[in-house]
Amino acid sequence: MSKVALVTGGTRGIGAAICVALNAAGYKVAANYAGNEEKAQAFGEVTGIPVFKWDVSSYQACADGVGQVENEIGPVEVLVNNAGITRDAMFHKMTPEQWNEVISTNLSGLFNMTHRVWSGMRDRNFGRIINISSINGQKGQMGQVNYSAAKAGDLGFTKALAQEGAAKNITVNAICPGYIATEMVKAVPENVLKERILPQIPVGRLGEPEEIARCVVFLASTDAGFITGSTLTANGGQYYAG
Ligand code: CAA
Repeated sequence: MSKVALVTGGTRGIGAAICVALNAAGYKVAANYAGNEEKAQAFGEVTGIPVFKWDVSSYQACADGVGQVENEIGPVEVLVNNAGITRDAMFHKMTPEQWNEVISTNLSGLFNMTHRVWSGMRDRNFGRIINISSINGQKGQMGQVNYSAAKAGDLGFTKALAQEGAAKNITVNAICPGYIATEMVKAVPENVLKERILPQIPVGRLGEPEEIARCVVFLASTDAGFITGSTLTANGGQYYAG
């Protein structure tokens, strides 16, 4: 029987590519989204993948949302924590709201979502948690103290929870994409992208969302059962994290 995979932030950008790739690999996929209703509905219609709206920064919304997915599709065996936002600003201009919004979604979202699926995975003695962190959580990025802190936190979350899940056959891994051709990266001022970021990528281009999606499909597979607590880096050679 097909396994159920739930992808947060699954209707746009990297998340959409992950949903499509998991669907093609035979999973029953559910895509969560928070804001962009129009894009989410269009994604659902084009792909046939069901979409579910809730905000991962709310513990209760995650409990209710996962409950709805499990009722309609089945127990979640693969959770991809992909939802993420940016509120870039130099630290001296960063507001408490910009800090809190990014931490709540990009870091607390992992707690809120994973907590809801964890008991079921333990009971069934199988699970895959895949957290989409970022190169900027590994190396730090100017203009992103909030985002870098959250994404680095995602790596600590991954390594600690992997140790707890191991005895129950639940793997917990992170992927650190570099700069991928999505709306999030295209929102970076053009001069910064061209003059500061692209020259730092040895392969000489942005990554494609599908290149991250293929990493997810591998980590979700039973073939990857011995890999847990790891960080898979996919950044075109931009940064080597020891
Ligand atoms: N790398 C190197 N230098 C950067 C930079 C970056 N990413 N971002 C800004 N700078 C430099 C600017 O070029 C500028 O330098 P000069 O004064 O020499 O021209 C200086 O920092 C100040 O920048 P701004 O004039 O743009 O300052 P601002 O206050 O108007 O805006 C900012 C600051 C909002 C941070 C804006 O520069 C910005 O959005 N930068 C991009 C930050 C970034 O890289 N975000 C990544 C988003 S993609 C993502 O997060 C996905 C992922 O996981 C990789």
